[in-house]
Amino acid sequence: MVSFIAAGLLLTALSVASIENIPSKHGKAPSSAQDRSLAAASCKCYPGDACWPTATEWSSLNTTVGGRLVATVPLAAACHDDQWARYDNTTCTALQNSWVDPETHYLSSSSVMAPFFANQSCDPFLPESAQCVIGTYIQYAINVTSADDVSAGIQFATKYNIRLVVRNTGHDYNGKSTGSGTLGLWLHHLKGISISDWSDSHYTGKAIKLGAGVQGSEAYEAADAAGLQVVGGECPTVGIAGGYTQGGGHSALASKHGLAADQTLEWEVVTGTGKHLVANRQSNTDLYWALSGGGGGTYGVVLSMTSKAHLDTATSAMNMTIFASDTTQDAYYEAIEYFHSTLPAIVDSGAMAVWIFTNTSFLISPITAPDVPVADLKTYLAPFETKLNELNITFTSYYAQFDSYLNSFNAMFSPIEVSIAQYGGRLIPRSVVENNNTALTQAYRDINNLGGQFIGVGVNVSKAVVGDVYNAVNPGWRDAVIHTVITTPWSFEAPWSEMLANQRLMTNEMLPKLAALTPNGSAYLNEADFRQPDWKSVFYGTNYDDLLAVKNKYDPNHLFYAVTAVGSDHWTVEDDGTGKMCLA
Ligand SMILES: Cc1cc2nc3c(=O)[nH]c(=O)nc-3n(C[C@H](O)[C@H](O)[C@H](O)COP(=O)(O)OP(=O)(O)OC[C@H]3O[C@@H](n4cnc5c(N)ncnc54)[C@H](O)[C@@H]3O)c2cc1C
Ligand SMILES: *[C@@H]1O[C@H](CO)[C@@H](O)[C@H](O)[C@H]1NC(C)=O
Ligand SMILES: *[C@@H]1O[C@H](CO)[C@@H](O)[C@H](O)[C@H]1NC(C)=O
Ligand SMILES: *[C@@H]1O[C@H](CO)[C@@H](O)[C@H](O)[C@H]1NC(C)=O
Ligand SMILES: *[C@@H]1O[C@H](CO)[C@@H](O)[C@H](O)[C@H]1NC(C)=O
Ligand SMILES: *[C@@H]1O[C@H](CO)[C@@H](O)[C@H](O)[C@H]1NC(C)=O
Ligand SMILES: *[C@@H]1O[C@H](CO)[C@@H](O)[C@H](O)[C@H]1NC(C)=O
Ligand SMILES: *[C@@H]1O[C@H](CO)[C@@H](O)[C@H](O)[C@H]1NC(C)=O
Ligand SMILES: *[C@@H]1O[C@H](CO)[C@@H](O)[C@H](O)[C@H]1NC(C)=O
Ligand SMILES: *[C@@H]1O[C@H](CO)[C@@H](O)[C@H](O)[C@H]1NC(C)=O
Ligand SMILES: *[C@@H]1O[C@H](CO)[C@@H](O)[C@H](O)[C@H]1NC(C)=O
Repeated sequence: MVSFIAAGLLLTALSVASIENIPSKHGKAPSSAQDRSLAAASCKCYPGDACWPTATEWSSLNTTVGGRLVATVPLAAACHDDQWARYDNTTCTALQNSWVDPETHYLSSSSVMAPFFANQSCDPFLPESAQCVIGTYIQYAINVTSADDVSAGIQFATKYNIRLVVRNTGHDYNGKSTGSGTLGLWLHHLKGISISDWSDSHYTGKAIKLGAGVQGSEAYEAADAAGLQVVGGECPTVGIAGGYTQGGGHSALASKHGLAADQTLEWEVVTGTGKHLVANRQSNTDLYWALSGGGGGTYGVVLSMTSKAHLDTATSAMNMTIFASDTTQDAYYEAIEYFHSTLPAIVDSGAMAVWIFTNTSFLISPITAPDVPVADLKTYLAPFETKLNELNITFTSYYAQFDSYLNSFNAMFSPIEVSIAQYGGRLIPRSVVENNNTALTQAYRDINNLGGQFIGVGVNVSKAVVGDVYNAVNPGWRDAVIHTVITTPWSFEAPWSEMLANQRLMTNEMLPKLAALTPNGSAYLNEADFRQPDWKSVFYGTNYDDLLAVKNKYDPNHLFYAVTAVGSDHWTVEDDGTGKMCLA
């Protein structure tokens, strides 16, 4: 809302009468021809506006893309009485039972995993009578099979002034892969995988080319079959070449091989003007640089990515559980503080840690140590286990060594549920853990007591990168030892106002406690607060201005928009990214 008001203010020069006619959340679309042209110039065209394409025009696009235009039918249409379906208890109950599985959503051309950005429309947990409209879901998707399909979508969206969004799995936490009145370019079915040898002055070794729709587990299986390991998310269904690698991408291999964006060799892209090109270290190098860590959904549409692949290694791993009920809160947080102090040695060995805690339980789930014998991994954890014994805290730990990365991954990572949280994040420099660990632990403790659940990702991505890298990864990653993720629980049944209150808590209370310890600090743009103040420097560091220059070069009309993406302040969008979009 605030941003929409700002758009109105910037248009005051055009005349008060016109402003009143700008399509708004509460108002009607403009009616006279003069108002229509104003709306077309300043705002995107929306369903119901006179400028919205006719059925015949959509049908013509459908023909151009070989019949692969999909009109959105919201995934949970059967949970309500609406234009698509009557309420159907069996279908709806099945959807409720599987709603937290990523699979339920990524097979859909329009569903959104992050519930806030679905705006309670066609929500399977709300009563039959609750609203089910397209709302913030995309209106149509092109089920892309080729660069031509993408170019056709770009031309159509440009001609009719329609908002465009790039969509892969729909995992994005910050609503980047949806938006109202939108045509989606849906890349899920680009599933090609091929392995080759690569040699240039920057890298010599194995490479893997992944279609934009390839998901983690598909790449891990293909790499494993070739005796290789590739960098991809801890969640096996996150897409690799989409928002994940373009945003940086951490993984269980991060301390061994670096971030996902450190692996990229080449991108195949369609730009904002519909040009199909290749970006690598030799040509379109500025675009190569930006796509490798500078954020998804804003420079161009990636059709495929070629990345380094590494020889597979034996991999050891461990997990552990502690309960606060075993001891006092002080002793419990003393244990957690001690664990954090052991992280530098753990990550320097090439291991990566994931741990989760509230003020009642602490879980390491897991630490993955590629190419580290399990006996060594036990040595790295021994001081922590000794400390727990000294504190009389009982714990359950499990250690194992696997003959491949894939076997370790499959045994140690549990499926990740979606749609159940809101997110915030901060990268914690190693110096803070080394010099101010007590204050850091106190901040985490205060955040836990405010209702924040903490997820830690322990990495060292400042070393061990094969070949030289040239990319737009937020420099804050290079000093970080903990990527902190804070979540507040999502409830479908609770009043919406409580979910908004949790957002305010995140922005105004929780994250400032970490910002105070990390002045001029950073956050990982894919797992952070979409209301982050100073997001340009926090998400992109010193790279922002150069990234914006790349954006302006390859998408001069600002066709691509995503919440907090580089260049996103060209537009103002009501309802925090999902609503109507007008020029800023
Ligand atoms: C359960 C879960 C686990 C996660 N685990 C990890 C993890 O281990 N490590 C990690 O680093 N992150 C992780 N993430 C965060 C993840 O990196 C982001 O959600 C990321 O945006 C997902 O990318 P996607 O392409 O799969 O999703 P989408 O939501 O489809 O897209 C995300 C963004 O990328 C853009 N985009 C997608 N495809 C393309 C393309 N082909 N060309 C151009 N732009 C594109 C979209 O426009 C959008 O802006 C996790 C998220 C979830 C929900
Ligand atoms: C596009 O054409 C195909 C094949 O004729 C059809 O099945 C599909 O419903 C059409 N899409 C839209 C949005 O009309
Ligand atoms: C749906 O079916 C379940 C049993 O399968 C029943 O318990 C529930 O009350 C039904 N809900 C509605 C709204 O009819
Ligand atoms: C999208 O296209 C793929 C083939 O590339 C096809 O298998 C799938 O059914 C299509 N999905 C939809 C919703 O049209
Ligand atoms: C742990 O238990 C031992 C034996 O009961 C006791 O001597 C010691 O003080 C306890 N330590 C703490 C930190 O509670
Ligand atoms: C640790 O991993 C083992 C093996 O996968 C699993 O059986 C166990 O439940 C895990 N424990 C925890 C605390 O995650
Ligand atoms: C633990 O955190 C919850 C919020 O999640 C809070 O209500 C509770 O008071 C905290 N417990 C303690 C002992 O501080
Ligand atoms: C990463 O490891 C290298 C080598 O051990 C070390 O010099 C560097 O300080 C570490 N960086 C971080 C951020 O942990
Ligand atoms: C540790 O953090 C506190 C609280 O923010 C701050 O006042 C102090 O200066 C920090 N100490 C160091 C050594 O950075
Ligand atoms: C903030 O960090 C940037 C580099 O990331 C640096 O140029 C700038 O001087 C820093 N500002 C302060 C106040 O530390
Ligand atoms: C979100 O839903 C509310 C009604 O619950 C509606 O007024 C608002 O327009 C919706 N926002 C968007 C962007 O569709």
